[in-house]
Amino acid sequence: METKVVKIEEQIIDESALESIKEAGQILKDGGLVAFPTETVYGLGGDALNPESSKKIYAAKGRPSDNPLIVHIADMEHLDKIVDKVPESAIKLAKAFWPGPLTMIMNKSDAVPYTTTGGLDTVAIRMPSNKIAAELIRAAGGYIAAPSANVSGRPSPTVAKYCIEDLDGKVEMIIDGGQVGIGLESTIVDLTVEPAMILRPGYITRQMLDEVLEQVEIDRTIIDNNSNLKPKAPGMKYRHYAPKGQLTIIEGDSDKVCDYINEQAAAAKAQGHKVGIICTDETISAYSADVVKSAGNREDESTIARELFKILREFDDEKVDIMYSESFDDNGIGQAIMNRLLKAAGHNVIKL
Ligand code: TXA
Ligand code: MG
Repeated sequence: METKVVKIEEQIIDESALESIKEAGQILKDGGLVAFPTETVYGLGGDALNPESSKKIYAAKGRPSDNPLIVHIADMEHLDKIVDKVPESAIKLAKAFWPGPLTMIMNKSDAVPYTTTGGLDTVAIRMPSNKIAAELIRAAGGYIAAPSANVSGRPSPTVAKYCIEDLDGKVEMIIDGGQVGIGLESTIVDLTVEPAMILRPGYITRQMLDEVLEQVEIDRTIIDNNSNLKPKAPGMKYRHYAPKGQLTIIEGDSDKVCDYINEQAAAAKAQGHKVGIICTDETISAYSADVVKSAGNREDESTIARELFKILREFDDEKVDIMYSESFDDNGIGQAIMNRLLKAAGHNVIKL
């Protein structure tokens, strides 16, 4: 299949951009696939109400079909059709955080095929704030099922280049909307249980959810770092976000971490490896290795969230085979950063 790549700037949705979005919407209505930007990561979209589209998504991603997809909507009026009964908590959270990086799990209606939900009676729903995504959802008839636009297991794409790398020839169209703003996938909260439970941490933190709902729990598998527990979001059990090389996270006092990483990097280099280091603006000048990258600034950890997946991909491009990363605070957005970083490292952590 020939994949058409079109460039659209989110801030300039003019006539020609709308024309492209209309074309993309028609592809989706006809059962085809379109990769598109959202504020979190790029999505690999198909018509959420067409069972054949979901099958195509699983095939293009190489994803197990028991791993359910998120349904993206653009308008509140569209919620009723896909949900059995919209819970009060969903209305409150939508008022606070939609459109935005929050996915809510509710009981599905008959309109949503089981191929979309991986056989579950519940459906995950998100209203993205990215304007290209919103226009595309409307042009497609209201409901786009979209996992992250990477081949299963790889870091989610935050720039179109990596969508193209993973999906060229497998989808009808890729919309290049530049680098996304958040860089980590949405927070997922399950509203079908009491109290509501966070299944995947993201930009919308537990503290932010706590301010709207009376009580929110967090799936223990996210914080316990215990591989024997079964995560409640089926997708969280799979190996994820993995760069091609071996990544190790080093935890501890900043000076010690720096010395230890430099020592290990030198030893690995002496053995013929190409070594990469993930650090921060505060520490970058203290490191030496083949490739040293700052993910961002510890004063504003959202900068780190934005760059992390891109850096993991860049290390692959540069054929780095051994990587070390500093560790991050496990609160606020740091919890989402550490959740992804731990998975990328296969939970390979050294505590100093
Ligand atoms: O930010 C995002 O959420 C991005 C963009 C494209 O919107 N999408 C995304 O989709 O990250 P994906 O498929 O890569 O991750 C969806 C996660 C998986 O872990 C899946 O198991 C979980 O959501 N999930 C989906 N439906 C679920 C359900 N009904 N119950 C429990 N977990 C569910
Ligand atoms: Mg994903």
